[in-house]
Amino acid sequence: MKTEALVDEALQLLSDGIDGTAIIACSGGIDSTVAAVLAHRAVGDLLHCVYVDTGLMRLGESDEVREMFDEMGIEIKVVDASKRFFDCLDGVTDPEEKRKAIGETFIRVFEQEQKEVGAKYLVQGTIAPDWIESGGGERDVIKSHHNVGGIPEDIDLEIVEPLRDFYKDEVRDIARLLKITSSERQPFPGPGLAVRVLGNVTPDRVQTCRVACDIVERGIRRAAKEGECDLPWQYFAALLPVRSVGVHGDARVHGETIVIRAVTSLDGMSARYSPIPHEVLSKISTEITNTLKGQVNRVVYDITHKPPGTIEWE
Ligand code: XMP
Repeated sequence: MKTEALVDEALQLLSDGIDGTAIIACSGGIDSTVAAVLAHRAVGDLLHCVYVDTGLMRLGESDEVREMFDEMGIEIKVVDASKRFFDCLDGVTDPEEKRKAIGETFIRVFEQEQKEVGAKYLVQGTIAPDWIESGGGERDVIKSHHNVGGIPEDIDLEIVEPLRDFYKDEVRDIARLLKITSSERQPFPGPGLAVRVLGNVTPDRVQTCRVACDIVERGIRRAAKEGECDLPWQYFAALLPVRSVGVHGDARVHGETIVIRAVTSLDGMSARYSPIPHEVLSKISTEITNTLKGQVNRVVYDITHKPPGTIEWE
């Protein structure tokens, strides 16, 4: 279907589905941003956009999101809920439990906002792979994406999902058509860096992962710009709960492990690992271990396709 027709379909669904105050969580990611811009077009001031600072976002991300919405002329309220998220993740290491805890906290934060504005509807940027992979059809549960699996059953909001039948590439086309600046950003999971911090999710470990992700993103972007490799579809770092002995100067250090992940994909449903040149990986590895001295002393590269792996580590 043509992109214009997809937009019309989504606008129709929104204006048919919403007849009162609505609220949307904008993470700055492409899916929620597209959903917010479409909903704003469909229902105007009935829509309240909220950015929840979970403490699990990438470096500089909160400021970028605020600026992006300012530039689009859409009002956005920023709620700092990081303490609540770290509290709900305290001692949780099972990936599905993490997703459920984050999803639930998200909705609870929202309920507070909902009460403030009297919202009846919750607009979500759920796309097809989110619910297909969450066991929405006949398939087995692969993982419960936070905007699907974490929704408590007692939620007092009607959910509107204008992108539910669309795939990532279609959402990207819509974003380009609507001139949304985040359309060129790489995808980022709803539960944020919690997905990329294996084991305990503490503020310190999230910060380690955040810094490593930034180094990987900058290093690969620079290499692609200088023609050393193609820009992958998605590229990031994950922090593994694996400690090994390393050496810093004369001292032996028991540090953690960062894995670099870079993949090519069309829609995230399947992916191939990107053959990033060793020289590029080597520079990134050195920058990570220098910057995170004492915390990370080993960097490894993931050469698994999806399937059998997934794109994220969690
Ligand atoms: P996986 O790890 O399942 O990821 O191969 C496929 C794509 O989906 C992104 N991803 C998510 N996106 N909410 C999202 O909106 C989520 O909970 C979520 N989990 C993974 C992932 O980054 C990749 O692009």
